[in-house]
Amino acid sequence: MIALGCDHAGYPLKEAIKQYLDSIGEQYTDFGTYSEESVDYPIFAAKTAHAVADGECEKGILCCGTGIGISIAANKVKGIRAAVCSDAFSAEMTRKHNDANILCMGARVISEEKALELVRIFLTTDALHEERHLRRVQMLKDMENGKM
Ligand code: RB5
Repeated sequence: MIALGCDHAGYPLKEAIKQYLDSIGEQYTDFGTYSEESVDYPIFAAKTAHAVADGECEKGILCCGTGIGISIAANKVKGIRAAVCSDAFSAEMTRKHNDANILCMGARVISEEKALELVRIFLTTDALHEERHLRRVQMLKDMENGKM
């Protein structure tokens, strides 16, 4: 189950992502927003991030104008590693090296076509289980627990 969220700027892209996920038979929960009426991105980042952190959803995808505000907000939730990506290499590497669990994208930054490519890569790339990457992700968890 994929958690989806956006603000008004990201709304059209989130709808396109839903169509793409439908086409590949991937299930999702849509945490809003549900129109292009102006809203505050932290609200939708929080709903989406908590669904991932609580294990209700395996991964998340968030969209706002730049992808930045909504990623900053998502990363405030313990257990979340949200990465803003604009290119295929970053989408691949943030899964492999960071075990990112939320992909953030800027609807005013990249094309819909590019965004769907990044979604495909993000959903199909596994984290590498190499010691150095596991160690670094563990350090991120230690930071959340006040150990660093
Ligand atoms: C909304 O205008 C815009 O500020 C928001 O979508 C996002 O880009 C913030 O980081």
